[in-house]
Order: sequence, then structure tokens, then C-alpha cells
Amino acid sequence: MTTMRSKIEELLKKVEEFKPKDFTEIEDFRIKILGKKGELASLFEEFKGVSADMKKELGQKINLLKNTAIDKINELKNSLESVETVSSENIDMTRPGSNETIGTRHPISLVKNEITEIFSRLGFTTAEGPEIEDDWHVFSALNFPPEHPARDMQDTFFIEKNPDILLRTHTSSIQVRTMQSQKPPIRVVCPGRVFRNEAISYRAHCIFHQVEGLYIDEKVSFADLKQTILYFAKEMFGEASRIRMRPSYFPFTEPSAEVDVSCNLCGGKGCNVCKHTGWLEIMGCGMVDPNVLDACGIDSKKYSGFAFGMGVERISMLKYGVRDLRLYFENDLRFLQQFEFIV
Ligand code: PHE
Repeated sequence: MTTMRSKIEELLKKVEEFKPKDFTEIEDFRIKILGKKGELASLFEEFKGVSADMKKELGQKINLLKNTAIDKINELKNSLESVETVSSENIDMTRPGSNETIGTRHPISLVKNEITEIFSRLGFTTAEGPEIEDDWHVFSALNFPPEHPARDMQDTFFIEKNPDILLRTHTSSIQVRTMQSQKPPIRVVCPGRVFRNEAISYRAHCIFHQVEGLYIDEKVSFADLKQTILYFAKEMFGEASRIRMRPSYFPFTEPSAEVDVSCNLCGGKGCNVCKHTGWLEIMGCGMVDPNVLDACGIDSKKYSGFAFGMGVERISMLKYGVRDLRLYFENDLRFLQQFEFIV
């Protein structure tokens, strides 16, 4: 029976010296020693055949081994657990917080929202429409003669010819859709992205944004147009702003005008931005041509209206003093992060 005694003693030594690195090692060890087919089980099996005079001594030794093993394993598990809790709680509470960077709104969106918001105070609602249009909504309904240069391949991105499907060159197409679906009085602003086949430079891009507006009712006059635009200019560029109108031409308005606002940088005295004229061009406008009203199913004998249209990038450039239009499309965060808190 000396072999059994030495087996027990060897195992006891192993248990006492056991130094695990992690939970898996402890668990493996537990199965090896205390498991159903483990070393203790085979010792108990062997114990059955032990002679009566040795039973007492060896029985005590096996039980000691068993209890030591159980205690040791529990103790090891507990100590590992507490190390783990300490390390997950081991946070330096004095460390400064790291800022989450949240995005800022794009300066084009900011200005577009501001424009539609100013007109909403005058009772204008907002309408949107498709970027891919047909010839009728972009040109024909708006009194463009068939040979008008704006229909030319030079300006318009065509998607299909005959019948012509194209990328809208202005958001006037939304006004056409509004006139077709609503009865006067109509007061609507139409923001959106437009496309023109133009060379990209500091002042032009093939993709840009417009907000156009339309007011149709009985007895709408040019004076209403002028007052509306003056209100807009003051709200957008400051109370001291003045406007002037120069005669112009658009197929869909008669009479037509180009609107200038007094330069908000030099107060009208003349500077680099206004090219020493004191004035900045901000939009086109005019009284809706009766042909357009009739084409869109509105009685031009009963109703009249005015329309206007402006480039959002241009307004944004003038408002913020941005000198290159291409900056709006480069997605450089150093540029974009400057705007959110200005408006
Ligand atoms: N649709 C014109 C353009 O894109 C702008 C405009 C709108 C001018 C309404 C007059 C009246 O240039």
C-alpha cells in the first residue's frame, strides 16, 4: 500500500503547487483531479481494495487530498475573479473626457434653410420636385422657344433624346408642377439641386442649388415683387440693405429684372467683392408671362403673378465672404466646420 500512499502524497503536492494562468487552466485541473474519471475517482476505486488495517490511515489521507483540492480550486477561482473586477473598475476617473465629434450642417443647407424660412414668414410654403425632368416641365411650359440656346447641348445634360429627358437646369420645373396641381392663390418656394453643362471655375459649377419662388393671385403687381425681394434682402443681408432692379430677359417672365443688393461688406462704398460698384447681383425675377400661366392651366386673364430665382451658393458666398465656389463641393472639414454657428 506504500504505492497508494505515495500516489496520494504526490497528488497533494501537485495540488498545493498548482499555479494557473487563467480560468481554463483551473477548470482543466479540476476535471483532471476531481472529475468523474479524474485521479481522485481512481484513487477511491483503488481504495475499495485496501486492507482493513490501512483503510483508516489512507481514507483520511484521500479525504484530506479531496478537501485540499476543492478548497484550492475555489480559492484560485475567487482570486482570479477579483483581479478581473478590479481591472475593469480600474478606470482613471480624473482623465478628461474625449469629445465626440458631431457633424455640422453644410453651408449650402444652412443658407437654403434660411431662405425658405424667410419666405415662410411671408406665407410661402416649400415644394420639391424631381431632378430628372422632361423637356416640357423645364422648357416648353416656361415659354422657351424651340430654338432657345438654353436647350442646347452646351447647357443641358440630356439623358435621352426624342422625347427629351434631362437633368433640370433650374427649379422652375417645380413651379410648373405646382401650378398644375394647385389653384391660386399660390405662394411657394422651390429649393433644389440643378445641373448645367458649364466649365467649373471659382464662380461656376455644373451642379449647384437654387431657390426659386412663385406668387400667383388676383392683382399681383410688380410692386408686390419689389417689396417681397426687399424684405428678403433685409432679412438675409441686414436691415441696412437696399436693392435695385435692372431690366433683364427671361422667356417665362415679362417684364424681367436682375436684382442687386447693396454690398454688405463695404456698405455700398465699393470694395473688391462688389468690384467697386457697391452692388452685388443676387437673383433674377419678373412677372410671370401669361403664356406660362395658360400652359399650366391658370387663367391669365384673372390671375397674375411674380417669380424669382436665386443661386444658393451665390447667396452663401456673399453672406459669408467665400471667394471660391468650388470650396462648397470639396468636403474639406476645415472649410465646412466654420459655418454651423454663424447663422
Ligand atoms: N429660372 C431662372 C434661372 O434659372 C431664374 C428665374 C426664376 C428668373 C424666376 C426669373 C424668374 O436662371
